[in-house]
Formats: sequence, C-alpha cells, structure tokens
Amino acid sequence: MAQLWGGRFTKATDKLVFDFNASISFDKILFSQDIEGSIAHAVMLEKQGILTLEEKDAIVKGLAGIREDVESGRLPIDESQEDIHSFVEAVLIERIGEAGKKLHTGRSRNDQIALDMRLYARAHVLQTDSLLKELLTVLLSVMEENTETCMPGFTHLQKAQPVTLAHHFGAYFEMFKRDRLRLKDIYHRMNYCPLGAGALAGTTYPLDRNYTASMLGFEGPTLNSMDSVSDRDYLIEFLSALATIMMHLSRFSEEIILWNSNEYRFIELDDSYSTGSSIMPQKKNPDIAELVRGKTGRVYGALMSLLTTMKGIPLAYNKDMQEDKEVAFDAISTVETCTELFTGMIKTMKFNKETMEESAAKGFANATDAADYLVNKGVPFRDAHGIIGRLVLYCIDKNTSIDALGMEELKAVSDKFEPDIYDAVSLKTCVEKRLTLGAPGPKRMQEVIRMHKEYLEEDWKS
Ligand code: ARG
Repeated sequence: MAQLWGGRFTKATDKLVFDFNASISFDKILFSQDIEGSIAHAVMLEKQGILTLEEKDAIVKGLAGIREDVESGRLPIDESQEDIHSFVEAVLIERIGEAGKKLHTGRSRNDQIALDMRLYARAHVLQTDSLLKELLTVLLSVMEENTETCMPGFTHLQKAQPVTLAHHFGAYFEMFKRDRLRLKDIYHRMNYCPLGAGALAGTTYPLDRNYTASMLGFEGPTLNSMDSVSDRDYLIEFLSALATIMMHLSRFSEEIILWNSNEYRFIELDDSYSTGSSIMPQKKNPDIAELVRGKTGRVYGALMSLLTTMKGIPLAYNKDMQEDKEVAFDAISTVETCTELFTGMIKTMKFNKETMEESAAKGFANATDAADYLVNKGVPFRDAHGIIGRLVLYCIDKNTSIDALGMEELKAVSDKFEPDIYDAVSLKTCVEKRLTLGAPGPKRMQEVIRMHKEYLEEDWKS
C-alpha cells in the first residue's frame, strides 16, 4: 500500500509493521470529522491566497462527495490504507487530481488528528449531556408522583429513618446533575481549535487560525502548537466524567437489583427490560442493571489506560497517542448506551408502593422520631436514646413495633409517653416533619422539585 510518506523510503514496510502501525480499523469512525476539518482548512487556504478559487471549489466538492458516498455505503472505507486521513486524501486525489494534492498544505496529520478527536469528543460531550437530561426528566417525573410514597432510608443497608421515593430518587438527580455540570465545564475547556499547529511548530504559510477555529464552532484557536498536537487532557477529563457517570449508574443499578429481588419487591422491572433463565422458568432477571454495573469497569479502565499512556510522553506528538482512540470510542459508546437503556428501564418499571411503605413501617425506622418525641417532653437526647433503645429491644422480643405497643407498655419505659406518641411515630408524621431544606418532608421536596424543573428548562449549549 502506498503511504503518504513513501518518498524517503527505499524498502516497503514489513506487513506486520504496517498492520501494527495502522489505525484505520478504528479511526475510520472519524471520517466525517476528518472531512469537516479538511473543508475548513481548504476554505481558509483559499481566503489566504494559498489555493485558487477553482482548487478550493474542487477540493470542497470532492470532500463533500466522499462524505456522501461513505455515508450512503457507496464508498467503502479501504482498510488497506494506514489511517482515515490517508484514505480521504487518496480518494480525493483519485477523484479530482492535482488540486487534491494541495489540501495538505500547511497541515500535518498531527494537528489533523488532534482536531478530528476534539470534534468527535465535543459532539459526544453534547450527546452524553442530552442523554443525561432525558434521564433527569424521567427521574423528576417519578419524584413528582411520589413525594408522599414512604420507604425506608438505609445506612449500612439497615433500615435507618423513613424517607420517600421522591427523596431517594432525588439523591440520584443531584448526582446526574453534577455530571452534566462537569460535562459543561469540560466542553468549554476543550473547545479550542488545534488546526494550524502543523506537526508541532506551526507553519510558514500565512494561515488564519482564528478563521478555521470559528468556522468549526470553536471559541478560538489553541495558543501553543506543541501543546496543541500533544494535548489529550480534554479526553482524560471526558473519560473521568464518563467514569463518574458510570459510578452513579452502577450504584443506582445495584439498588434496582436489590429492590427487584424477591426479598425486597420494592419494584418490578418491565418484561421488556428483563431476561429469563434457560433452566429456571420462574426467573425474571435484572440483566440490564447488572450489565450497566458490570460495564463500569471498562470505562474506569479506559481512563486509567489513557492516563498511563500519557504519563511518560515527551513533547510533542508521539505515536503512543494513537492509543487514545479505541479506549475512548469504547467508553463513549458504552456510557451512551448504558444511559439510554437505564432511562428506559426506569421509565417502564413499576413501583410497589405498598411494599415500600410496609417495609418502612417495620424495622424501627421511626426510632429516632420516638427519641425526638421524648426530647420535646424535656428528656435530654442521650437519655431518650437509651430509653428508645430499650423499647426497641422489648419490641424485638415481642415481635412488634413501637407504634403497636399499648400505653401501659410505653409508660413502663418512660412516664413521659402520652397518647400523642402514636401520631408522632406514625410513618406519615415522621416524614412530614422532616422539613429542613434537602430533607424528605413532602413540602420541602416540592420546593426542590420546582427548582429542578427550572433547571431542566435551561439549556447551556445555546
Ligand atoms: N493515527 C495517528 C493517531 O491516531 C494519527 C497521527 C499520525 N501522525 C504521525 N505522525 N504518524 O495518533
């Protein structure tokens, strides 16, 4: 196969070496970014008097035709080329002749790939963001409908205090909202154009880098040509944000798996989002949640892989950097697929609200409220804690709950108990009284939900 750089060589590349070095099998995914960047470059070259109008027109038309033909499948990507840049240039020269050979004026594959990857990452930051926004919209609709649905809140996976379903989902709302904020930050930091950096030291042609940067929708050009071709920080930041998204999805998946289990039965996954067993006919498995949890590992792996690849690379471009592609492409598509599937799973699942409420009523989730009751009757908190502790022990022994005890049994532990204790430790009261900002009390929750709604109406991209 003819290479772009064959002139200086007298011997053909060894076949194994060629295959080892080539990137077309995975960078072909960048063909439309490659063409977009090349069109901007050609338009700028003409504006600067480096190409004639006819040459520029032929190049732009040729590139647009290649894009169309690849997209429609008429032009298969020839994998015997070294990389996507070589493929596009070869087809262009084949189609338009001499003018095609001028496209690479004032450009190197180093700034070309730096641009392609940035365009790709930038588009997927936006795509990930909009998938997260859909997830948040679904979470918010569950929250709106469930500000009064009581369920146990857990610490150490032990029932701790009563919360609501809205509140529990609200915690995940915060996580995915932070994920979106991270993406927004990254977007703005990455949105500078490396095109025109050349191989590493710029070029002697009078390129207008501001012009190409603005044509390609960047906030401006990058300011150091060596950094431009060897910076992969933006990808590392993106992978780090993706790893965090997966960590959140994985925690949520873990809860869905628990809640869907025979023991909890808090939810039931829709048939369309569950799978069966080949041997056990009764099974309805949460495979999607398990896979999301499982795929978290490979996204973390991508981040560690790129961090490690970059750590010993001297300035400027080195071929090691080609290793950013496969891991990044895999992590990006993994997170997008997981987010989309996860949203569908939440949207279609059924909540067994009665089971949640029964579970909250059992297991002494109201013990803190019983202690608070005594505090309001003048008992110091530390003493109240001890009294309720003894009461819980008594209940365990009798296999009953605090609210089911008779007045006499309560009085036997503390004479401060009055009949109003029953209302104070009822599930409804326990939740309603939790009115600090951020707490599950339905009135407070509704305020927070209003804030979330306003937040979802804003759009940071515009
Ligand atoms: N395939 C290369 C990469 O992904 C493109 C840049 C090639 N540059 C070079 N000097 N060989 O990094």
